[in-house]
Amino acid sequence: MYTEQDIKPLISESQIQQAIKTMADNLNNLYKQEEVYLICVLKGSVMFMTDLAKQLKMPVKMEFIRLSSYGSGTESSGKVRAIDILLPDLNDKNVIIAEDIVDTGHTAKFLTDFFDYKFKVKSLTFCSLLDKKIKRVVDINPDYYCFEIDDKFVVGYGLDNDGLYRNLPYIGYIETQS
Ligand code: IMP
Ligand code: MG
Repeated sequence: MYTEQDIKPLISESQIQQAIKTMADNLNNLYKQEEVYLICVLKGSVMFMTDLAKQLKMPVKMEFIRLSSYGSGTESSGKVRAIDILLPDLNDKNVIIAEDIVDTGHTAKFLTDFFDYKFKVKSLTFCSLLDKKIKRVVDINPDYYCFEIDDKFVVGYGLDNDGLYRNLPYIGYIETQS
């Protein structure tokens, strides 16, 4: 069991808010006054999605999907499935996916394939708070991301380790004892 003392701060609350503002400016510019559906990928993206939503100036509808990726501990398994699809009909809609982090890319690939297969969306923009490019095994990149990070397991601001630390207002990494 980790205690908060083991979490080393990596990205501060104000750095996060500033980067989200920049991302939102880009999205505001891209979509102007067109209506968008902002999709939160539960649970990790909950903080990111709500803060991003607050900076968007077009008409926004907030929707949710929950995925599960079978895996153990801090390793991604690559087997992703949708377990709660709380989505309306998104045919001919502008969709912005808000994801917490792109790591191997399996989840991002699953999500983009899922939307392609289920709906004929008008546009799809994939936004990720974090991008761990160094860990990528699937050839996919977010359209927009806030921060690129190294190969560290991060927690906070929605990201968890075994369900914990999602409530931290900043992003930190778990220091492994050596
Ligand atoms: P991917 O499918 O390997 O790209 O992994 C994406 C998912 O794994 C994310 O949506 C997160 O839920 C989780 N994940 C990947 N890296 C981290 C991390 O450093 N901290 C917490 N969760 C992570
Ligand atoms: Mg996630």
